[in-house]
Amino acid sequence: MGAGIIGIGRYLPERVVTNFDLEKMMDTSDEWIRTRTGIEERRIAPDDIDTSDMAYFAAAKALESANISAADIDLILVATVTPDRPFPSVACMLQERLGATKAAALDISAACAGFIYGMVTAKQFIDNGAYRYILVVGVEKLSKIVNWNDRNTAVLFGDGAGAVVMAPVSEGRGILSFELGADGTGGKHLYQDEYVMMNGREVFKFAVRQMGESCINVLEKAGLSKQDVDFLIPHQANIRIVEAARQRLELPEDKMSTTVRKYGNTSAASIPISIVEELEAGKIKDDDLIIMVGFGGGLTWGAIALRWGR
Ligand code: UT7
Repeated sequence: MGAGIIGIGRYLPERVVTNFDLEKMMDTSDEWIRTRTGIEERRIAPDDIDTSDMAYFAAAKALESANISAADIDLILVATVTPDRPFPSVACMLQERLGATKAAALDISAACAGFIYGMVTAKQFIDNGAYRYILVVGVEKLSKIVNWNDRNTAVLFGDGAGAVVMAPVSEGRGILSFELGADGTGGKHLYQDEYVMMNGREVFKFAVRQMGESCINVLEKAGLSKQDVDFLIPHQANIRIVEAARQRLELPEDKMSTTVRKYGNTSAASIPISIVEELEAGKIKDDDLIIMVGFGGGLTWGAIALRWGR
């Protein structure tokens, strides 16, 4: 048996903020944002919808799609750097709201790589037989920690949530290999003080190098090669960064998710949001080899090679 994904769900706030809207708020332009980042618009949550609300909306859909009830869940892992409050965790708030009474619950703090860290953590409990159904959520309300007067960061981020239910799946399917990593010496390049602070150029260089390396590493660990990859889901930070990963894998354009155009950088939520987008678009089919790869503040990174299907 492998550990794989048996249910998915996502939530995106209704309010669309376009680059043209931002032009009215700060000294920026649609042209600059599109050419430097690929972003055209992002979703911003209203004041009365916090991180745990978005997590709940996405998780409820994932449970429905997995065809299990909240009472079946053994563990809830929520990847986020924008919890409602320092504690209780978003995972515990979600446990209450779902009524997942038997589930253990904790948040994972690995910034934009958080969802990959969450899936790899879930895999360990499934592989060793301790737990059967694990809910992994990536969720961020970045709009509450972005300085709306700082054009260097404000144009990049968006709000949203994605969730998956992980469980044992058939032999040969699920997570085939993974890599996780961290380099605390780079923490100074991307962190939260009051607001998100970022040295964009340093993060850019790190991301381009690390995403490509991690993709190749998980393929090698799984005994596979670039030619075997059916679809790439990179953390949606910037179109130029994800393009570099695509080129490293020599994949055609239509074999990579580019939801950054519509949703901006949603940090830990970007990979699960993209999974839902691509499944609904029919881009992912049973037995496809999917590579997911992320990087973020910490610095952290992670990648997974996954054979899709239950
Ligand atoms: O999830 C991980 C989170 N972080 C990232 O992924 C960020 C990675 N880095 C990046 O994506 C890119 O570095 C940025 C998109 C942030 C910036 O792109 P860049 O090509 O590295 O631009 P730059 O920092 O070299 O800035 C170029 C110019 C600067 O002006 P000067 O100094 O050349 O006159 C900036 O002041 O662009 C200016 N600039 C802007 N202009 C208009 C910076 N932000 C904006 C803006 N609108 N929003």
